[in-house]
Amino acid sequence: MKVNGKHFRSLWWNAEAEVLEIIDQRALPYEFVTQPVRTVAEFAAAIAEMRVRGAPLIGATAAYGMARAMADDPGDVNMDRTWDILHATRPTAINLRWALDRCREALRPLPESRRAEAALTLAHAIADEDVEINRRIGEHGVTLIREIAARKPEGEPVRLLTHCNAGWIATVDWGTATSPMYQAHDANIPLHVWVDETRPRNQGALTSWELGSHGVPHAYITDNAGGHLMQHGLVDMVITGTDRTTRTGDVCNKIGTYLKALAAHDNGVPFYVALPSPTIDWTVADGVADIPIEDRDAREVSHVQGTTADGGLGHVRVTPEGTDALNPAFDVTPGRLVTGLITERGICDATGEGLARLFPEHARNAETQLESGKPRGS
Ligand code: MRU
Repeated sequence: MKVNGKHFRSLWWNAEAEVLEIIDQRALPYEFVTQPVRTVAEFAAAIAEMRVRGAPLIGATAAYGMARAMADDPGDVNMDRTWDILHATRPTAINLRWALDRCREALRPLPESRRAEAALTLAHAIADEDVEINRRIGEHGVTLIREIAARKPEGEPVRLLTHCNAGWIATVDWGTATSPMYQAHDANIPLHVWVDETRPRNQGALTSWELGSHGVPHAYITDNAGGHLMQHGLVDMVITGTDRTTRTGDVCNKIGTYLKALAAHDNGVPFYVALPSPTIDWTVADGVADIPIEDRDAREVSHVQGTTADGGLGHVRVTPEGTDALNPAFDVTPGRLVTGLITERGICDATGEGLARLFPEHARNAETQLESGKPRGS
């Protein structure tokens, strides 16, 4: 998508310098800072510190990290060590494990002399596939927005609500939850988006920055406002992203998503989840029991980040000194509260049957692995 009129992906390969370039998302929405990532340690830090964030982008970044490692030392020991280092960065988004497994499975059978080049080619392919997956999610999602628009008086906007940032900077491009929004806006369907603040890290500010850059009308709301807006008929549909969705349709996403789904259910508001297939964990059936939830630093809760009067970045404490805080970063919305999953292959029910209909090859494979007793989760 465009930043100040120039097209960007959220990461790109600098072939001359042989480094990955990323946007440091810690500085957004205040400053647009790009930076090179040069070593496996730097790749791990970029993911763990959330310079790159969002499930699909974490996966693509890890693939480039494996490419870096193979250029340094293409041996099996280094491949396994890199898998471990990168996998340990963040526990919840399954795209990380998906990308690392895909790299290892493709590279292991190759002679060491061919691994560096093959790993870079694969990282490029994973990044390009992500863009195409998200574009298609948008194509399917926009049909839902169009249907709502058709039921409204001419010119009245379709009012969407989203949580966290499932936008283009959380993917390689387009975003997942935002892709239908961008495509609807580009098709001149009147639209207005309620953007949840998403405490503690305020990813809603990133979504506002994205939507604003693309000219999509929106308003930033506190995390507690959504239920009230739904009760007053001000939300036509919720669309969120996901960090891991089970083979039965339970959706793990940014903390607070579950409460939005409950409010949507109570008010008869359709609740959709934009789901790229690499975000499906075919090994897990019960999301609440078996998805590991990242526990982040309590300081993210006790302090807020913002821009200071001199234009710099600052943190201020909002709690009394010494107050304990808890910071679970994700929660799980049971599939029964999800109206539908918008995937690159179409829209389905948030159930095992729904997902198996769209992805029969994965569902079959999962059955076989379960029968052979492979462990669940992590
Ligand atoms: O902690 P984050 O910012 O990485 O969490 C991101 C989310 O929860 C997104 O909603 C999810 O990854 C989907 S991104 C297309």
